[in-house]
Amino acid sequence: METIDKIDKCRSTMQKLREQGNKIGFVPTMGFLHEGHLSLIRMAKRDCDKVAISIFVNPMQFGPDEDFKKYPRDIKRDTSLAEKEGVDYIFNPSVKEMYGQDHKTTVEVKELSSVMCGKYRPGHFAGVATVVLKLFNIINAHKAYFGEKDYQQLVIIKKMVADLNLDIEIESGPIVREEDGLALSSRNRYLSREERENAIVLYRCLNIARDMIAGGENDLEIVKKRVMEELKGNEFVRKVDYFDFRDPLTLQEKKRIKKGDGEILAAVAAWIGSTRLIDNIMIKV
Ligand code: PAJ
Repeated sequence: METIDKIDKCRSTMQKLREQGNKIGFVPTMGFLHEGHLSLIRMAKRDCDKVAISIFVNPMQFGPDEDFKKYPRDIKRDTSLAEKEGVDYIFNPSVKEMYGQDHKTTVEVKELSSVMCGKYRPGHFAGVATVVLKLFNIINAHKAYFGEKDYQQLVIIKKMVADLNLDIEIESGPIVREEDGLALSSRNRYLSREERENAIVLYRCLNIARDMIAGGENDLEIVKKRVMEELKGNEFVRKVDYFDFRDPLTLQEKKRIKKGDGEILAAVAAWIGSTRLIDNIMIKV
């Protein structure tokens, strides 16, 4: 396994792999790897001849009051985990290498970026789309892998790829959860023991919604009311940014279930103490 920190070197290495006829799989990450990341790496290993991952905590996707500085980083541990999974290349550039002194360009995927998390994290998805496009241009992979944990991010990246005619296939992997159901996230490490125990309330609420819908409730406002009671009743939930039902492709909000809807996305973002967590499930209707 090779770790590369320069753009030119990464580009020429990937170019050579392509010329040799390798199919390249790419998993973008911000590091502090966990089983969620590793599951995407395994998918890439299964599909491709060579696997590259990026580890880059992208300042452009953090707001001024967000956790860019304290976001967990452990490149040594990440390197050893990646090596064990058979990753071939880690691209681990510095902020200066990625953005230089005078970066001016951003990619905005309109509408999809201003709802849900976008409403509460202005500029976040422009930061994500911009860095992902840069990484796609540097790595030039055949396929890239994203987790359904960040469902809105996945929809935005797919739309960017379609709209900008990017020559890359996007694959997605299911959410990897702890035994009690909490979705794995690098941010879980911010939680105290008590907060960690209570963080499961997010997944519990998604399941309450699923059960109510399975039981025949088709007024989603009623479901939402019940779920909000559950969230607000937990003393560790400091704030609920949203609990929404959305169309899985357009992310348009759904108030009622209609026959033929197929699937709807239930998604939640809430603060457990000072940690913002997100989760979602797809509900068959
Ligand atoms: P990061 O949060 O490190 O996540 C990297 C990838 O791992 C994303 O595609 C994310 O959806 C996936 N992932 C995280 N937790 C997961 C879980 N529990 N189950 C399955 N997949 C999971 O997402 C980012 O980084 C950044 O925004 C990035 C795309 C790298 C751009 O900076």
